[in-house]
This record gives sequence, structure tokens and C-alpha cells, in this order.
Amino acid sequence: MPYPNRRDFLRQAPLFGVAGLAAGCATASNPEPEAVRPVVVSTWQHGQAANAAAWEVLTSGGRALDAAEAGVRVTEADPAVRTVGLGGRPDRDGVVTLDAALMDGSGRCGSVAALEGFVHPISVARRVMEVTPHVMLVGDGARDFALAEGFTPTELLLPETRREYQVWLRDNPGYRPPINVENHDTIGLLTLDRQGGLAAACTTSGAAYKYHGRVGDSPLIGAGLYVDGEVGAATATGWGEAVIRACGSFLVVELMRQGHLPAEACRLAVERVIAKNPDYREIQVGFIALDRYGRSGGYCIQDGFDYAVYSPSQANEMIVPPSKLGQHE
Ligand code: GLY
Repeated sequence: MPYPNRRDFLRQAPLFGVAGLAAGCATASNPEPEAVRPVVVSTWQHGQAANAAAWEVLTSGGRALDAAEAGVRVTEADPAVRTVGLGGRPDRDGVVTLDAALMDGSGRCGSVAALEGFVHPISVARRVMEVTPHVMLVGDGARDFALAEGFTPTELLLPETRREYQVWLRDNPGYRPPINVENHDTIGLLTLDRQGGLAAACTTSGAAYKYHGRVGDSPLIGAGLYVDGEVGAATATGWGEAVIRACGSFLVVELMRQGHLPAEACRLAVERVIAKNPDYREIQVGFIALDRYGRSGGYCIQDGFDYAVYSPSQANEMIVPPSKLGQHE
């Protein structure tokens, strides 16, 4: 069933039920496309620089997928961002391993996981999508593929992150990064181009000091990101294991398909994550979503998450979404 406009939605209201209407489903009128496009939405403060690059592509007439890739490449190349690409924190064996995926509204997608030694895993993921019959390559196979495709190997572990790792080895504080440290997590970025095309990209070095070989939610289509051109796009940030258990981003998109606005879809998906993760008070999970009408929203478990929105009416603004533990308990 296509994502309903207001008239369709009201006709279908008995299917969604009174509770759905009360919960804030898509009863608001759907904006005119020309007024809202293009749009870029991405996670955390580092999203602003990524958004600016994606915006450049979109306002030059570029397509959603190109913009999504160009946006997150900025974060991947930024050595100051400790959880994405160059400068990302290593695993417990001292190796930086990267996860990345991208997808467009037609269902085309590509992904790499546990990839070592390349600054731009998102572009390797795109090549997986474009030149192989597969969706996902991992580990040594992904590395061999990247080399064969002409990507240049690079040392990703920088002196400062190596020193931090050595302190961690000495103190052995445990495997989980602290929640709610700004810039601690994934860049997930959603785009809507002038033609109405949707895309998403997601890239990370994952949880700091994870087990070697651990793969998080980010490269898993449906968990770390999902796009359906008839509905919208979503991406996740935070403790990947918790997102995977709920198939989080697919869930957000399906909730929008049922008529929920993006913010409400993210809230309901966080409720599902909470239901499946009894340790939810100890972790952060956040979702952001963008529907095909250009409306965006987010929700998270803990206070501290923010995201950046660039649109004709929002000039790369940082948004602090409501959270389960901050505002709803
Ligand atoms: N959300 C990123 C990860 O858990 O790897």
C-alpha cells in the first residue's frame, strides 16, 4: 500500500483505527513538493558538515544517492570524528574496522562490514551495489574487492587514537563506549532530492574496543538504514545490537507507511527497541526519519542525541528530539 496522502489516509482511517489518529498519525496536510525539496537530515553535530556537502549536490540538481554518499564522505575523512572512517577508534585488538551501507528509494543497496584500511567504506559499498550481483561484502573479501576496484589502502589508526587505545588496554574499562558523548557514533544521513528521490547512507567504525569481527547495525539493510521510495527513509544511531534486535530502520519506515509522521514513527520504534532490550537504561539508541513529503523527525532513549536538518525552511539547524528517559518518564 503506498504511503497515503491526507485524503487517502482519512479514507483509510478505519484501517489505522482511532488509536492511530490519537497518536498523531499523518493527519497533517502533506506539503507541496516544490516547497520542501531538497532535504538532508543527519545524525549528531558532525551531521552539519555532511549536510552541507549533500546540500551542495542536491541544490546543483544532483540525485539523492549521490548526495548521501558525498555527505557522509566528509565525516569519513574527518580525523577529528572518532567513530567514523579515518581516526575511528579501533577494536579490542587495535584494528580499525569499518561498516557502511547506502540505499535508494528503488531498493538498490550496497554494504560493507568489518572492512579494514580504507577511508571511504561508503564508496566501496556503492561499488558493491553497482558492480556485483550482491548487497554485502565483509572482512577480507570486502578488502580484496576494494583493492581490485582501485581504492587506496590507508592507515586509519591515528597516533592519538592509538594512545587512547593503549590507555584502554591498560585500564580495561569494558567494551561499551559511554553513551551520549557528542560525536560518539554513526553518521546516518537521509536525502530527498528535487525530483522526489530518496536515499540514505550510514557509516561507522562501530563500538569502540568491540570484539574483532563484530558488526553493528549500520551496514545491515533494515537495521542501520532503510529506504522505500513510496514512503520515506530512516537511519539509526547508538548501540547497534539493540537496533538489530528490533530491525529498527525498517520498522520506522513501515510505521510511516501505516500513516505515522516521522517523529511518531521514531518514537514507536524506540518503544520497540526498549521492549526488546531490558538494559535500555544503559544504552543509547536514536532514530531519524524523513518522509517523501520532506517531513523529518527523530526520537531517542536518552537525552543527548541531536541531528541536523537542511531544507528550504531549516538552514542546517541542529534539532534536539524528545527522548524516552528524558521527557516521557
Ligand atoms: N550504531 C553503530 C554501531 O553500533 O556499530
